[in-house]
Amino acid sequence: MKKKNNPFLLKGYVSRELFCDREKEVEQLYTNVLNGIDTTLISARRMGKTGLIFRFFDHLREHDDIKSIYVDIFSSRNLDEFIKLLAEAILLEFPEKTPLGKQFLEFIKGFRPLMGYDPLSGQPQIQINYQSAQEKEYTLQGLFSFLDNQGGPVVIAIDEFQQISDYPEKNIEALLRTYTQNLKNIRFIFCGSRKAMMINIFSNVKRPFFSATQFLLLEKIDTEAYSLFIRNKFAESGIEISDEALTMVLDWSLVHTFYTQSLCNMLYYMADHTITIDLVKLACVELLKRNEPVFYQYRQLLTSAQWNFLIAIAKEGEVKQLTAQKFISRYEIGTPANARRISRSLLDKELLLEISRKKETSYRVYDVFLSRWLENEY
Ligand SMILES: Nc1ncnc2c1ncn2[C@@H]1O[C@H](COP(=O)(O)OP(=O)(O)OP(=O)(O)O)[C@@H](O)[C@H]1O
Ligand SMILES: [Mg+2]
Repeated sequence: MKKKNNPFLLKGYVSRELFCDREKEVEQLYTNVLNGIDTTLISARRMGKTGLIFRFFDHLREHDDIKSIYVDIFSSRNLDEFIKLLAEAILLEFPEKTPLGKQFLEFIKGFRPLMGYDPLSGQPQIQINYQSAQEKEYTLQGLFSFLDNQGGPVVIAIDEFQQISDYPEKNIEALLRTYTQNLKNIRFIFCGSRKAMMINIFSNVKRPFFSATQFLLLEKIDTEAYSLFIRNKFAESGIEISDEALTMVLDWSLVHTFYTQSLCNMLYYMADHTITIDLVKLACVELLKRNEPVFYQYRQLLTSAQWNFLIAIAKEGEVKQLTAQKFISRYEIGTPANARRISRSLLDKELLLEISRKKETSYRVYDVFLSRWLENEY
């Protein structure tokens, strides 16, 4: 059998068949939309936020024909670019030829934009030149009210929302809050991976979005559900994975979605009929080898004290107290103050991940491949 397309995706979302679980999360997002509640969706990088958004959009289409708009603002550096991305996302959802698309084009033409298409992706591009800051704000307000007046509900997901903290405009949160809070038909999903920043935006009493949304913290996929999914996807191509091999896949990748997917993707490519522990080991070695250039890059960007600190964490797997005497002396890190300074900068660079659980907080190397590689190499 086999050689269908690899069922373990490494980016994007294709269909529910290739998407594992997240039923509870979809349900929460859905209930929020029905109840008029906006959601703040947070998780570590590569845990599956964007995938979940598209999975949820599928659900909306199937159930109520609710319109959905996805805007990724990662590349934006200011309000101009935010508006541009939002307008382009709307145009993507309401293509030119549809009645709504025509209305939207008429509406946007009022702002005298330059319009075109990306030569590579074919996606619409809109450039608006503003005469004044007021005109810009008026455009933003106009986009939201256009959507609000479509007669039906619309869900807008803004991915990498923490990006707005880097905009030079000082009043951006207040502005967005003002324009969004009185909309009747639009529900928002604000999505991001910089947990501290996101929580601060939405739960700091002094900030405009305080208490405006419900939090959804996306954790790892349930191990049992993921096991079943992996076993089935292999089985559909006539490949059997042994229990021990499956356990090793999940352990080694820490059930961190992207890393688990990557390992399964590699195994699918390597396997004929059966997957044993030995094959899993080979796949792990191969994955790490392919990622070595990235690891060397990390090493170049860090001081040797920072690099050694990462190695120490990787060797431990997870560390509860980064300044604990036992940990510091075992790896010759110096003083607790040293450990504090180094860990702060590694957290900031997203090389260390803080994991908050009910009773305790602990830390691990953020990139699971890097962690496994450091653990083996040093
Ligand atoms: N439930 C799922 N089942 C199967 N694959 C998934 C699932 N969720 C995410 N993935 C896959 O895992 C990878 C990471 O997911 P995704 O890009 O959604 O994460 P993310 O949290 O948005 O990451 P980032 O913070 O880097 O944007 C992708 O390859 C995606 O296809
Ligand atoms: Mg994402």
